Amino acid sequence: MPSATMNPQEVRAVWTSEEGSMAKQTAENRWAKIIQGTIDDIGETANADDFDDQKRAESIAIQIALKDIKRRIEQNKPLTPLQDDGKLDIQEWNKQLAAIGQCSWRNCPWLFGECYMYRSIQRILNASKYWQNYDVFKRQKDSTFVKSRAAVEELASRYMQIVADTRFAQDESKEEAKKLLFVEMTEIALWGNATDLSLLANLSLEDLQNLQGREAIQKSQRNIVDNDTDDVWTYLQRTASQASRQIDIILDNAGFEFFTDVLYAAYLLDAGISTSIRLHTKDFPWFVSDVISTDVESLFEHLDSSECFPGRLYLGQLIPKLRKFFQSGAITTTSDPFWTTPFSFHELPSKAPAVFKELQNSYLVIFKGDLNYRKLTRDGLWPHTTTYEEALGPLGKQSGVKILSLRTNKSDVCVGVPTQSKVDALNEEAPGGAWIQNGKYAVVSFNEGQ
Ligand code: F6P
Ligand code: MG
Repeated sequence: MPSATMNPQEVRAVWTSEEGSMAKQTAENRWAKIIQGTIDDIGETANADDFDDQKRAESIAIQIALKDIKRRIEQNKPLTPLQDDGKLDIQEWNKQLAAIGQCSWRNCPWLFGECYMYRSIQRILNASKYWQNYDVFKRQKDSTFVKSRAAVEELASRYMQIVADTRFAQDESKEEAKKLLFVEMTEIALWGNATDLSLLANLSLEDLQNLQGREAIQKSQRNIVDNDTDDVWTYLQRTASQASRQIDIILDNAGFEFFTDVLYAAYLLDAGISTSIRLHTKDFPWFVSDVISTDVESLFEHLDSSECFPGRLYLGQLIPKLRKFFQSGAITTTSDPFWTTPFSFHELPSKAPAVFKELQNSYLVIFKGDLNYRKLTRDGLWPHTTTYEEALGPLGKQSGVKILSLRTNKSDVCVGVPTQSKVDALNEEAPGGAWIQNGKYAVVSFNEGQ
């Protein structure tokens, strides 16, 4: 497979000043709106009739501090060191900011600037008396999940059918059927990532329904620009006799995507592919919709509600099954501060050696979503034909980590496209980098560390 070879250290990370980039668009158009959303949300919470007076009084100061971040973003002010909020990580943030040097909101490394924005919001809450554990994005996460009602009900019914198929497929002669189920479930988890609060929320039902047949799977596979599903399947088949097969999923978004992830986890257990699943959540509200620990129970609360999901026929069978996986410890959740740092995952071995070791010992590590992909590839402007392994740098082959990315393309980085002619064809089909940015294309990229 031809590839452009580059030293990871030499690859330029995308900055928010880069013309035509998603980075620039995000810094100019989305960040201030996201902050405004947090101001409105806190206002709405604090203005409820029965709200505590002291908390309400403190909300005013929080809103003022948030407005100041918004103003600084709009006026392209310099990024300044974060003030102490009693948490240990502040020093690391400020060290990294100092290493970048002079930079401003519209002229900074995108990855750092965006992470810094979410940490700045949390800094204000951490420094408060009453709002430390408040999730400024919960309202948004909940309302979006409820809008995916049709897709959730449809998937619940499809999953119960898949469970039946999986049992049927245990017979050795049904290898092909087993593989098709794996492809289908993997793609459901993949396209679940398209629904991070905005992009493809309405398209998903049709897409997901269409995933049911072989022909339809092939149709959606067209938009997977680096597709290593066959390699993953070969790896899983070859190693199926290992006694411990723990799969780690580094989660992305709450709500619909998380629902597809839990279904995927259940499938991996039901099909005997995995012996246990560990789900990695974030420590505090992050990139609007990322899963934090409280989103796990919130998922079940929503699924249990016949007001949110009136079609109970299949959900009624599915929910107890899913809950049992959590109660028995077959599915567990964990979290680590590393996931909410600005570091790319190239820094994982040095900055979070214990997490790195755990991932090295994992049977398979699945990274969901766009931000995880950006961090895996240092948010670098790699030639698109660079191999995934090369872009992983220290997490590549020698790391021993078996890494699978399920990511719809929503930023500026995309590697692993097999040939330059394929890149050219994509540029023609979706000009101006749309295939890297618009969330309608995706990657299923696998690297088997050894
Ligand atoms: O729209 C851009 C963006 O906010 C990126 O900053 C980020 O990489 C992505 O969306 C979040 O997507 P995901 O939830 O898939 O990580
Ligand atoms: Mg996300």
